[in-house]
Amino acid sequence: MRAWQVHEFGKPSDVLRLEDVEVPTPGEGQVLVRVSAAALNFPDLLMIAGKYQVRPPLPFIPGVELTGEIAETGQRVIGPPAEGFGAFAEYALMEAAALWPVPDGMPDEQAASLFLTYQTGHVGLHRRARLQPGEVVLVHAGAGGVGSAAIQLAKAAGATVIATSGGPEKVAVCRQLGADHAIDYLAEDFVGPVKEITGGRGADVIYDPVGGDVFDRSRKCIAFEGRIVVVGFTSGRIADAPTNHALVKNYSVVGLHWGLYRTHEPTLISEVHDQLSRLYAEGAIKPLVSQTLPLGEAPQALDALRRRETIGKVVLTP
Ligand SMILES: NC(=O)c1ccc[n+]([C@@H]2O[C@H](COP(=O)([O-])OP(=O)(O)OC[C@H]3O[C@@H](n4cnc5c(N)ncnc54)[C@H](OP(=O)(O)O)[C@@H]3O)[C@@H](O)[C@H]2O)c1
Repeated sequence: MRAWQVHEFGKPSDVLRLEDVEVPTPGEGQVLVRVSAAALNFPDLLMIAGKYQVRPPLPFIPGVELTGEIAETGQRVIGPPAEGFGAFAEYALMEAAALWPVPDGMPDEQAASLFLTYQTGHVGLHRRARLQPGEVVLVHAGAGGVGSAAIQLAKAAGATVIATSGGPEKVAVCRQLGADHAIDYLAEDFVGPVKEITGGRGADVIYDPVGGDVFDRSRKCIAFEGRIVVVGFTSGRIADAPTNHALVKNYSVVGLHWGLYRTHEPTLISEVHDQLSRLYAEGAIKPLVSQTLPLGEAPQALDALRRRETIGKVVLTP
């Protein structure tokens, strides 16, 4: 089968090689899946660079989420590859206990995008931030993969959504996704507009996949008893959270590592998948897939993600 392999850590276009490798053999509790579509994620970049919390032994096949057909039964499923990576290939192994059915009528490229970012958004907003209907949610990098899912999920939960993103095109995307307000945070500081929109109160929940300066500024517009959800650090800087500031303003900084629920509470993932399938059936969420590319174009697509050029999700089809 064709598969992208990483033999040394680095930039995708420098280190990815498309190779012919053996179709993997399922081990105990695993199934072989013919990959129909695999979505790109920022963690792919970190993993390929050797900077992710999981550092796979070389060589490895990247790609953390996929949809495909179980080779033996033809059943369409969604989920992670068995090892946590290995989706950028024609076939992948999945754990039989860690795959979920594709919602009825959902096309492959959308199904490939319903797992990581939507699970993270749902758990982040509901479980970690305890979002209540009527609250104001500020979603940073709202036109990205994680951000676009969070905008839709926050709206579906009855929140007012303010989104930030870089540039006018992405701001328009945030509005199309359902954001009530959208701010180009490369053109202006978002603190003033957020305070103005909320009548000086600030946002109840801030969902932050960017970190760095964006986290620092978020502390200036978090509401009384607000929750800042730390989702990621695409800016490249991990900000410090001064505890005296959390005390004087009565807010919480809430960490989110969705992957931990796989071991700590696996039933939550199935419950969230059911919720996401229901929301999809009701038309409340729909993954924004801006590009569907052939598997062969993985390096260019990953480089575009690194350069901050992608919108929503980019999906590869073998
Ligand atoms: N905590 C968890 O459990 C969990 C789960 C999944 C993903 N994540 C994290 O969530 C973050 C987003 O992942 P994603 O796959 O959805 O990526 P993405 O949002 O599709 O892409 C990253 C976005 O970050 C923004 N950004 C700001 N500064 C940037 C910079 N210096 N370089 C690149 N991008 C920059 C860009 O949007 P603008 O141009 O609009 O600023 C860019 O589109 C990542 O940090 C990822 O590791 C966390």
